Amino acid sequence: MEWNCVQIFSHPAWAISTFILFFIIKAQQKSAWNPRKCKVQLKGKTAIVTGANTGIGKFIALDLARRDARVILGCRSAARGAAAMREIRQRSGNPNVHVRLVDTSSLSSVREFCQAVLAEEDRLDILVNNAGASGLPRGITPEGLEVSFATNHVGPFLLTHLLLDLMKHSAPARIVNVSSFNHRKGKVDFSHFKGENLTYILDSVYNHTKLHNILWTNELARRLQGTGVTANSLHPGVVMTEMMRHYHWLIRLVFRMVGIFFFKSAEQGAVSSLYCAVAEETEGITGKYFDSNCSLVLPSPLARDPVLAAKSFEYCERLVAAKL
Ligand SMILES: NC(=O)c1ccc[n+]([C@@H]2O[C@H](COP(=O)([O-])OP(=O)(O)OC[C@H]3O[C@@H](n4cnc5c(N)ncnc54)[C@H](OP(=O)(O)O)[C@@H]3O)[C@@H](O)[C@H]2O)c1
Ligand SMILES: *[C@@H]1O[C@H](CO)[C@@H](O)[C@H](O)[C@H]1NC(C)=O
Ligand SMILES: *[C@@H]1O[C@H](CO)[C@@H](O)[C@H](O)[C@H]1NC(C)=O
Ligand SMILES: *[C@@H]1O[C@H](CO)[C@@H](O)[C@H](O)[C@H]1NC(C)=O
Ligand SMILES: *[C@@H]1O[C@H](CO)[C@@H](O)[C@H](O)[C@H]1NC(C)=O
Repeated sequence: MEWNCVQIFSHPAWAISTFILFFIIKAQQKSAWNPRKCKVQLKGKTAIVTGANTGIGKFIALDLARRDARVILGCRSAARGAAAMREIRQRSGNPNVHVRLVDTSSLSSVREFCQAVLAEEDRLDILVNNAGASGLPRGITPEGLEVSFATNHVGPFLLTHLLLDLMKHSAPARIVNVSSFNHRKGKVDFSHFKGENLTYILDSVYNHTKLHNILWTNELARRLQGTGVTANSLHPGVVMTEMMRHYHWLIRLVFRMVGIFFFKSAEQGAVSSLYCAVAEETEGITGKYFDSNCSLVLPSPLARDPVLAAKSFEYCERLVAAKL
């Protein structure tokens, strides 16, 4: 009997084995910690999630809302923010979900956001710095910062620092920074912050910003010792979200196709952030980095360098102070 391609691929054995393989791969993507089994309730607590209108951030906010927290969605688009707010209220049954506008690439927007939060909130128990962008085109913000650095690092840095006293008063409180495995290819060169010496190849600039996220978290954690406020960073996994929106359509297409099999859903991508934000297992843990399986792992040697962490931190402090 002669077999051609069509016959082989239409054979039931082919369909069944593809099906089984699909489920094996999907099962592997499950994290060791399951938020649905975690019974922690957050009634009376307040949480802020930036970039909460889509992707990973939306599922982080939804889970916190289901635990009955007061949830503030830090979004830059009023329309996208309001749509997410309605969806989260409806799916969680928690009406205490609100949108507050913030564009993390703009220090003045971050300042306005924080002023409003400080004026209206009497506590802040959880802050998830999730907003971020990859593959942004070359650009300098009106405040003179490289746009990816401003969005992914300097804005969240300032935001966290302006809210730190409120968090200390609410202790125990948790800061969670959504970093990435990509930090491993990042380099530290402070001229990058102003857009110098950067090559814009795919995710090269993103990689640098995600390294600074971990360095910052570690130094912040050191400075917060004894305050009851913890700070950790994590890798969410490779997740099907709008993250690739700034890439060429061909790259996006390939990612989509590969992603159906190998990437996590946005809901699964939220798990390691939630592990840091709510799990009993991470209570009191600070200055650590978790992978997408919620395992405590070491970030790259550069990311662990305490001298570099202090330098990056002080550099950002001067940067935002100069813009006060
Ligand atoms: N997806 C992955 O595979 C992956 C892997 C490692 C790490 N991460 C990290 O996970 C985080 C969330 O990413 P995602 O995958 O969920 O991507 P996403 O679907 O693109 O969502 C990003 C979110 O950040 C917001 N955002 C972007 N720039 C902003 C700005 N200047 N001001 C305020 N908000 C801004 C977006 O708002 P708009 O909708 O208004 O643009 C959106 O809500 C990021 O920090 C990312 O680095 C993702
Ligand atoms: C995930 O973590 C669990 C428990 O810590 C471990 O047994 C498992 O091997 C890990 N899976 C991966 C893919 O690292
Ligand atoms: C970065 O660029 C500036 C000029 O824009 C140069 O003087 C400096 O040496 C460069 N730094 C590195 C580390 O290459
Ligand atoms: C960014 O980091 C990822 C993951 O480490 C790596 O695969 C990629 O090549 C890096 N991109 C660049 C341009 O260095
Ligand atoms: C990460 O967390 C530290 C605190 O540990 C904070 O100072 C820093 O601004 C955060 N960075 C991002 C990008 O969220």
